[in-house]
Amino acid sequence: MNVLILGSGGREHAFSWKIAQSKKLSKLFIAPGNAGTAQVGTNVNIAADNFPAIKELVLKENISLVVVGPEDPLVKGVHDFFLADDQLKKIPVIGPKKDGAQLEGSKEFSKKFMIKHGIPTAAYASFTKDQLEDGLKYLETIKPPYVLKADGLAAGKGVVILDNVKDAQKELTDMLAHAKFGNASSKVVIEEFLKGIELSVFVLTDGNGYVILPEAKDYKRIGEGDTGLNTGGMGAISPVPFAKGDFLKKVEDRVVKPTIAGLKQEGIVYKGFIFIGLMNDGGDPQVIEYNVRMGDPETEVVMPRIKSDVLELFEAVGQGRLSEMKIELDNRTCVTVMLVAGGYPGDYEKGKVMTGFDSTSGSILFHAGTKNSGNDIVTNGGRVLAVSSYGDTMEQALQASFSNAEKIKFEGKYYRRDIGFDLK
Ligand code: AMP
Ligand code: GLY
Repeated sequence: MNVLILGSGGREHAFSWKIAQSKKLSKLFIAPGNAGTAQVGTNVNIAADNFPAIKELVLKENISLVVVGPEDPLVKGVHDFFLADDQLKKIPVIGPKKDGAQLEGSKEFSKKFMIKHGIPTAAYASFTKDQLEDGLKYLETIKPPYVLKADGLAAGKGVVILDNVKDAQKELTDMLAHAKFGNASSKVVIEEFLKGIELSVFVLTDGNGYVILPEAKDYKRIGEGDTGLNTGGMGAISPVPFAKGDFLKKVEDRVVKPTIAGLKQEGIVYKGFIFIGLMNDGGDPQVIEYNVRMGDPETEVVMPRIKSDVLELFEAVGQGRLSEMKIELDNRTCVTVMLVAGGYPGDYEKGKVMTGFDSTSGSILFHAGTKNSGNDIVTNGGRVLAVSSYGDTMEQALQASFSNAEKIKFEGKYYRRDIGFDLK
């Protein structure tokens, strides 16, 4: 079959790499893709949210499955667009419709959903612009640290955690009254602070059955020792040593099952990934957030750990028979180390020539922000390249990734040399 992947990051290269190994694949297209996806499929220069152009491509290339990488096209309704079109409605889309995408698209929706369906999560209150005064007073009644979340999508920047009540009140005012995150902060969720260590759990569902994919831990801060600004993710590790059978069983019973049942109860037919951001709070899972897609860079360690043919799994999602499927995993550890542009997550430059690809060995290089330019591969984003490696131990895998991270060269390159530090 011919397959189309929407998106252009490391996650989409990891999907492409895995799908390219499927015996079911004829032709793979990626829109818009990057220099890495161009090595395993055909890039088409169409934005992931240009639905009419996507339709034209799907019909022209006889595409019979679409995998949506990022949340943005899902929240904008790409799956609904397919279902509403007579020529497209039979083509399975991996990714929820608009209704399901609200789990990520609205923090308030996801909090209400969790509370209603008994899924463990931090207590919260939400406020609109008209309720600013109430919000400011509410902050005085709760204990620090204060967790403020813009309700809508804010490019991963909408969560602010502050220790001081005055700072929290100023932030709330900026978000609500001064539209700090535009329309996304026209409503703000204020949440109880959760202590513990974070973990990402990934579920693929057809709305009834589900398979749990390998879990991963992501390193979000730019600086070593988890310091400095938040990024999209600087590295990831799978499996996660503290996520043993016992803890994962609690996650399945207390979070995964009620989530799938809750979606059904709400009448939401959900076909796609659910990414559950969890806190391990003294051995008990608490949900921080849902995302309606895979994580990035988590996908760059999750895909390498899946032995099963993912196109068979995706086909089963489309046909509603995922409950018949078992997933086979690679027991080795997989880690990834993200190379980023100097200055990221603040301002950074693009277009830096990259070299050293041929001198690496023993790692999989997943391109994130790269593009072909003449005969060169140049940087084209803040997160540039994910260096993924297997190992019998986490240390072995990390050693391979760090050694190859050193061999790739581009001006301003930075990476964290301490990925996994808290799991040793
Ligand atoms: P989110 O965009 O919801 O993933 O939040 C971004 C990051 O903020 C999370 O990955 C956590 O590290 C942190 N965070 C969010 N909510 C909480 C919370 N209630 N308690 C502690 N940390 C949180
Ligand atoms: N790595 C976190 C995310 O994809 O949201």
